[in-house]
Amino acid sequence: MKIWEDERQCYIRAAMEKNSEAENEALKAQLDAIDWSVLEQIERKETVNERGVFAPLEAVETEEIERRRDEFRELGIKAIREGKVGAVLLAGGQGTRLGLDRPKGTLNIGIHRELFLFQQLIRNLMDVTDEAGAYVPLYIMTSNINHDDTQAFFEEHSYFGYPKEYVKFFVQEMEPACDHQGRVYMESRTRVAMSPNGNGGWFGSMVNAGLLSDIRSHGIEWINVFAVDNCLQRIADPLFIGATIAYGCESGAKVVRKAAPDEKVGVLCTEDGKPSIAEYYEMTQEMATARKANGDLLYGFGVILNYVFSEKRLEEIADAHMPIHVVEKKIPYMDESGSLVKPDAPNGYKFETLVLDMVHMMADCVPYEVDRKREFAPIKNLHGVDSLDSARELMQGCGIEL
Ligand code: UTP
Repeated sequence: MKIWEDERQCYIRAAMEKNSEAENEALKAQLDAIDWSVLEQIERKETVNERGVFAPLEAVETEEIERRRDEFRELGIKAIREGKVGAVLLAGGQGTRLGLDRPKGTLNIGIHRELFLFQQLIRNLMDVTDEAGAYVPLYIMTSNINHDDTQAFFEEHSYFGYPKEYVKFFVQEMEPACDHQGRVYMESRTRVAMSPNGNGGWFGSMVNAGLLSDIRSHGIEWINVFAVDNCLQRIADPLFIGATIAYGCESGAKVVRKAAPDEKVGVLCTEDGKPSIAEYYEMTQEMATARKANGDLLYGFGVILNYVFSEKRLEEIADAHMPIHVVEKKIPYMDESGSLVKPDAPNGYKFETLVLDMVHMMADCVPYEVDRKREFAPIKNLHGVDSLDSARELMQGCGIEL
């Protein structure tokens, strides 16, 4: 049965009733091109990520990093100078919590001066490229929704001083969004409401965009992938890359010491012997509060969406299936009467794969501790926890003039 023949699909059917025949032909072609099996995930949403047996994973803590600083730094700088390091900025999200109607990276985080989030990230990257005396190819993932604005913003600001030939944009894939009953939303009479499909498909999207030849021509062996919204983020950090190389691992994850046992962060651990991230809601009270002999939390380090992956391994897993997460979000849509609705509260589901699930596809992973006051200032909201306000405070604490 075609999706528009399904009587439950009230938004699609209501739109079709108002459309001309030609409009409906175009809409049907759009609907036919979508893999609707994604809707089956709604029933499985509680078990999508059925987990194995979790066990703690020792982090490489700051004392150890200090002790081996020169060794790690040398390995990382060497890899950068040899062109073996690339970076991927995940900027395809919609930032619905922040409520901007333009790319998150265009947010002005300055107070007395203009300082855009993208600008700060490029500044952070250039701290490293200045030190190494070599540029790192930067790939920026966007979505259909923000691609043109993102690219235009970089053009307008001359790539904030980074050489344009080292920056490539690519567009991620989209998935349909639906209400809590699985009824697919329409964004207009002729278009299905589609959303970016999460940050887990970034490597596949790079491959689809034809960037593999670019990666190979640079000789990239390590890819540092990071979120757009952490303005204190260290990018292509030579120490982090050097530590991953020194430990002979396929991946590394920057982690911060948990502020409290119940802090809502995903914790790096092992699952059935392979590296994995246990979400805070997947941890039992016992796991969350267990302590080592020295009093530290046994599951004490949370991930901050800054990973390094072996490029070779990424190619091997490029076609592997990733769990699809059903995420509750606010989804603007056209109701059955044809009015556009902008909801104030989550009104349905989007379907996303997540980069954190990639960690479990790696044979091993170095949990690399960083100081959260220096490297973790995510901007998810305007005010409150993980907000523009808290990020500004943290930036000022690092001596950055705003
Ligand atoms: P978030 O999980 O914070 O999602 O993304 P979001 O869409 O930006 O924001 P909310 O939840 O709607 O408020 C974490 C990182 O992953 C990127 C984001 O741009 C951010 O850097 N991301 C997220 C993508 O690149 N694509 C996606 O489909 C989702």
